Amino acid sequence: MVTSNSTLALHGGRPLRSKPFPSWPQFDENEERRLLRTLRSGKWFRFDGEEVRKFEEAFAEAHDSRFGLAVSSGTTALEAGLTALNLEPGDEVLVPSYTFVATATAVIVSSGTPVFVDVSLDTLNIDLAHAERCITPRTRAIVPVHFAGLPCDMEAVNAFAAKHNLRVVEDAAHAHGARWDGKGVGSHGDIAGFSFQASKNMTGGEGGIVLTDDEALFTQVVSRHSYGQRPGHPWYSHHVVSTNLRMTEWQGAILRSQLERMPGQNRRRLENARLLDQAIASLPGLSLIGSADPRAADRAYHLYCFRFEPSGTVSKKSFCEALEAEGIPCAAGYPFPLYRQPLFESVQSPPDQPVYSELNLPQAEQACREVVWFRQNALLGEEEDTRDIVRALEKVLEQKESL
Ligand SMILES: Cc1ncc(COP(=O)(O)O)c(C=O)c1O
Repeated sequence: MVTSNSTLALHGGRPLRSKPFPSWPQFDENEERRLLRTLRSGKWFRFDGEEVRKFEEAFAEAHDSRFGLAVSSGTTALEAGLTALNLEPGDEVLVPSYTFVATATAVIVSSGTPVFVDVSLDTLNIDLAHAERCITPRTRAIVPVHFAGLPCDMEAVNAFAAKHNLRVVEDAAHAHGARWDGKGVGSHGDIAGFSFQASKNMTGGEGGIVLTDDEALFTQVVSRHSYGQRPGHPWYSHHVVSTNLRMTEWQGAILRSQLERMPGQNRRRLENARLLDQAIASLPGLSLIGSADPRAADRAYHLYCFRFEPSGTVSKKSFCEALEAEGIPCAAGYPFPLYRQPLFESVQSPPDQPVYSELNLPQAEQACREVVWFRQNALLGEEEDTRDIVRALEKVLEQKESL
């Protein structure tokens, strides 16, 4: 076969790029020093040492929150936060349909019923116009997800919540360091959860944190995360049914260093994302996802998302395969909206509404058909690395019809 530089790598041409993008996780001697110090101290348990406590204080402060409690994962952070709301069976909680499974299962674990809401195609965040139509006398809370790191319009979310007397639980699993209107995400609602799982913009391998300004909610979460205990009471006194969600000192040690590095990494991702935005805005068949609202400008990028409009026989899957073959790692994202995951077939859907598997929310469906993700570490390279992404997009689009 005769191949040229312009032949798609998928069809045997030379890949545009063979150099890998920056690997993840990143660490240096700071993590090493803190880990070694933790090892030698023999204080590996959070109530013996001070790594986790110092991390909680620093992370809460960085996000303008009064209280932070580190836990075992982003999932358990959301579960603990929602459980603190004391939901009763039948209580409904609004969740977006284009999100990770934990956003909705945390509602079920805390006795509530998830109600799936459509998302905006411009932002991939919860669509409040549709949320308005999902309100019933049983609605108690809303879980806005700052999807991909783009802050939700928290002024609008809080106004909506106030109008309907709802609690607000921010899912900030993607949004470390992002600010809405100058104030840290996680500090706008009643309570919030973040994730430090391996792929996240700060990671301890696993881990999560709950943030809140509300002392009563915080006290409940503290009990929930450690055997139902209460601060100031004896060890063997247990006040509520709970579990053990405690973080180890190892994770605290690593996360303190990750937090220090995060603002610089966020700036780098933002700069590279701007380059991508400029290119994607002018490429036919691609659409930007983002917000022109200056209050969301200080965003994080856990994912760089854009839309590819499938045409004729050319699917998003083949577009992603072609980019991968050119040396650009990318992902097709969620295959279908969350409500169609098999688990919801055995969960009771809210009364007077279609069963979960029969929902068909047009924008979430379209997002699953069209949205492509670049993961955060692809944005940690130099300008030239990002220009390679642009070149690959151009190359694949030029020959789209051959896919
Ligand atoms: C939006 C969202 N919420 C919650 C979670 C749960 O976090 P974890 O994996 O730490 O349990 C994740 C993902 O991993 C997520 O993407």
